Formats: sequence, structure tokens, C-alpha cells
Amino acid sequence: MSATLSKDAREELQSRGYSRRQFGRISSLLGMGAALTRFAPSAHAETFKPDQAFVGHPNMVRIGSNECWTGPFPTACSAGQAMVPHGNRYEPDHLRSTLLDTAAQVENCPVDHILPWSGSSDPLSRAVVSFCSPTRGLVTANPSYEAAWRTASWLNVKLSRVPLTAHNGYVTDVRAMLQADPNAGLYYICSPNNPTGTVTPLEDIAWLVDNKPAGSIVMVDEAYIHFSGTPSAISLVKQGKDVVVLRTFSKMFAMAGLRLGLNFARPDLQQRMMRYDGANVTTMLNIVALACGASSLTQTENIIARRNEMIAARTMTLDHLRKRGVHFLPNSQANMFMVDWKKSAAQMKAAFAKQNVEIGRNWEIWPTMSRVTVGSMADMQAFCKALDHIMA
Ligand SMILES: Cc1ncc(COP(=O)(O)O)c(C=O)c1O
Repeated sequence: MSATLSKDAREELQSRGYSRRQFGRISSLLGMGAALTRFAPSAHAETFKPDQAFVGHPNMVRIGSNECWTGPFPTACSAGQAMVPHGNRYEPDHLRSTLLDTAAQVENCPVDHILPWSGSSDPLSRAVVSFCSPTRGLVTANPSYEAAWRTASWLNVKLSRVPLTAHNGYVTDVRAMLQADPNAGLYYICSPNNPTGTVTPLEDIAWLVDNKPAGSIVMVDEAYIHFSGTPSAISLVKQGKDVVVLRTFSKMFAMAGLRLGLNFARPDLQQRMMRYDGANVTTMLNIVALACGASSLTQTENIIARRNEMIAARTMTLDHLRKRGVHFLPNSQANMFMVDWKKSAAQMKAAFAKQNVEIGRNWEIWPTMSRVTVGSMADMQAFCKALDHIMA
């Protein structure tokens, strides 16, 4: 399904330099989440495509897509399940506003600064459409989450990718990002970064916000922030800055298949993102996901316990890699890390697949490194065992 662009939306896009041909591309891109995968495949789709042969294998250890190793928190599951019998109703219990009120309370953020989506993929692509143009590019780190890259290239928006470097601990270099394109429309920072798990200090993000060109936006994708427990850029949103924060429920809250996300931004920025058939997309949400998501947000103790469980599994795995002399990038504060095999990552991925372990992809800039998701302790023990077998 694709979006229908209103006359106003078309005129606004035209005024920013988008061509009629690009209108078609924008409407096909912003229909529903599903449409995104046609042109901007999700990480999940990309990870699974080459591996069709073993998708669905009952014993496969899935540490390739940065999913959570277990389901939503038990009380969140119950809240979602309780909604299934009411599935005949569009909005049985003001679930959407309950989610927004809960998020506003938890983040201490005005409720009119928050919008729900069925995941982060739509608002991410939508931000590129809304804030970039043929004259104002997109800047990201490299490697980083690539969905925005694909949208930019689909729309012929200038893309600048700034390498992460060892000398700064593989942290996103905001000064180099500004230098790469001092007139960009959108600066995208994923923190913790997918795939390195490294956190961009909030002071660096604030520096970029204060020094970026007028009219541009800094988008901070906090998909993994509950795993790091580090300070959120929502504080900058609350200060009225040109910042959009993305929060998917696909990671810590284990709702990748249920589909839910929030974005935080000043209402005028939200409005700019809503121009292209956004109203439908943020109101027609799955009631099971809304109930499950609202319940998840307040579970502080469970969030900390799950983070600690992940840290224990990550520590055990990195210790094992160290013992085996396998190089990995330091400083991950999330449920993933990069392993440098010093040889083809694609071949290593295939070798793990033969051991029934699905590890993550590599990025073009680092062809010898694979992203490995931190799963349960049992998943990571299976990863270590498979590694021992491959290295024997
Ligand atoms: C950094 C980042 N942002 C956004 C997404 C997309 O998440 P969603 O499942 O909400 O579409 C992902 C998925 O892996 C991600 O890693």
C-alpha cells in the first residue's frame, strides 16, 4: 500500500526541489511499514535474504538481527493478550492515548511532543523525506543503521557517511559529520550505534545541535538505549531544539514482531513529518501492540534486570573471544558487538550457519567484521561452542 500525497504535500515537496518523479517514489515509500521493505529493506529482511535455506530451522540460534532473546515482559504480554478478544474494535480503551500519556510521564515530556508509529522504520524514512531534499543532504556515521541511506539513495538525496575510527573508540564523530556536509538537512545519529553498540555522548549531540546549519534537524535513534542506560537526547527535545528522537519497541521491549515505536519532537517538527499521509499511519495502530507497549514502558526493574542479563551474556562471550585471541571492537554498550575475523565475514557467517548459529551481517566498509547480537546466555554459549568448532 502506498501513501496518497495531498495537493499541499506535493506543493511543499516541489518548493523544496523534489521532482514529480520523486513524488511517486515518496508515496511508494511512505505507504505503510511494509512498503518500506520494497525499496529500503529492513535490517531483518537483509539479514535473512541470503539465508532462506535455514530460516525457520527449529534449532537455529538467532543472534543475527538484534532481536531480544525472549518475549515481552510477562505483564506486558498479559496486557496485550487481554486486548485480543476486543480486536473487533478500533480503539476499545483509549489505548493510543494511554500509551502517549505513559510515555509522557516516564520521559517527563509534553504529550504533544510524542507520536506513535508501528516501529521506527516509517518515521526514519519519513524524516529523510521531510528534512532532506535535492539540495539538503543526509549525514550519518559509517557503519551505522542503513535504513536512512537507502531512503536517501532512492530519492537521490546527497548522502555523506563519516567513518567511525579506532582513535576515538568507534564513537560517532559529530564534528566530522558537520564538516562532511555543512548544509545537510538531516544529521542522523544512532546511539548506541548499530552495529558497534558505541554511545555518542550527549554533550557531542548537543554540540552538533548548537552548531548545525539553520533549518536542519538532528535525529537521534535510541533503538538500543535501554540496553545502555545512558542519558537520552529527549532532554534536548524538551529544550525546544531541532531534534527528533526515535524509540522502537523492537529491542529491549521484545516487540519486533508486534510493531510499535515512538518519536519525540517539537509539535512543529512532528507536523512536518505528518504531511505525507502521516495521520493514518500514526492512528491506525495495532491494539495488542499499544497495550503491550504501554505496560512495558513503566517496568523499570525489569528493564534493569534484562539489561544486566544481557551484560552478563556479553561479558562471558567477549571473555571467550579474548581467550581465543579473536579480535572484537571495544566499548559496546548494547546488545551487539563487532567481531573482526581478519578474513571474509560472509564466509564466517556461512560457517556459523552450518553450526545452526545465525550471526549478523557485515558492513561494506568493514568486510572482515560481523555484527553479533547478544542473545540469552544459552545462545551465547552456543555461539562460543560453534566458534570453537570452526576454529578447531
Ligand atoms: C537503529 C535502529 N533503528 C531502527 C530500527 C527499526 O526498528 P523497527 O523494528 O522499529 O522498524 C532498527 C532495527 O533493527 C535499528 O537497529
